[in-house]
Amino acid sequence: MQTSWVPFVPESASTLSGKVDALYFYLSGVTLFFALLISGVIIFFVIKYRRRSPYEIPRPIAGSHKLETLWSVIPLLIAMSMFAWGAQLYFEQYRTPKNALEVYVVGKQWMWKVQHSTGQREINELHVPLGRKIKLIMTSEDAIHDFFIPAFRIKSDVLPGKYTSYWFEATKPGKYHLFCAEYCGMNHSGMIGSVIVMEPTEFDSWLSGNAGQQSPAVAGQQLFQSLGCVSCHGASGEGGRGPELAGLFGKRVFLNTGQTLTADESYIRESIVNPQAKLVSGFGPIMPTFQGQVSEEQLLQLIAFIKSLQVVNPHPATPAPGATGSVPPAPSPTRNNR
Ligand code: CUA
Repeated sequence: MQTSWVPFVPESASTLSGKVDALYFYLSGVTLFFALLISGVIIFFVIKYRRRSPYEIPRPIAGSHKLETLWSVIPLLIAMSMFAWGAQLYFEQYRTPKNALEVYVVGKQWMWKVQHSTGQREINELHVPLGRKIKLIMTSEDAIHDFFIPAFRIKSDVLPGKYTSYWFEATKPGKYHLFCAEYCGMNHSGMIGSVIVMEPTEFDSWLSGNAGQQSPAVAGQQLFQSLGCVSCHGASGEGGRGPELAGLFGKRVFLNTGQTLTADESYIRESIVNPQAKLVSGFGPIMPTFQGQVSEEQLLQLIAFIKSLQVVNPHPATPAPGATGSVPPAPSPTRNNR
């Protein structure tokens, strides 16, 4: 791991890192410029307007509207330029691209557990291909952790009971530091690992070299059977006593309360551990909670399974029987899993 031309700046190895650095140097530059300007002016004035005799009385100053306008408008413009630049970068980073490769990350005291959508598992290591967008879906089993890869300039809190999504695209092969950046207990400082960026062909052979592990979607399907989900949601998620799950992911969901939401990872997770929280329109509160019966990793597997379910019937999903909603259903799945 070599460093950049500034000795204390970590290596820049993602599509984001250059942009973050540019903004950071702009902020530092503006700060440095005004720090020097103001200290220079202070020193200059201290000398120029020093008291020359003990009886000297300064001339009163009435103020200047021109000067006051100037020193209000210029800082406003500078501050707004920082806001606009920062917001633009923020939106770019928080809008996850649709065609990204998904990787599940579970933080626990004190390690990072990673699973790829093909089934490969890793601990405190993350192998990714070069030049591909990677979407991390992260949660924690216990305390709050924070997933931090300095070389990619990404840092995101990993929270229990919630999913955080983050994406990056590596631009340079190599091995990079992975840290936990949130104090999470005794061995927080040991919660470290590496990210290994490989050429795509190399990555493919790494994936196949670690084959034989069940994909999260397949493991999720088995859980779906063994937990008895099939008895209400159908063997292929076609619905029945419970809402239809096929083609659900990424779609609009109509709730009992008249609200609608988009079925994402967090919604599905909540519906498993706390089914009464958001009841689908037309369905009663009959589903038991699975809190404590499934681990965070199993929850991710169930979600991967639901994501993999395609619509079974040829006509688009209709609102649940007995639904009062008059809103037409979404025409097609908005998201593609592969
Ligand atoms: Cu996990 Cu600090």
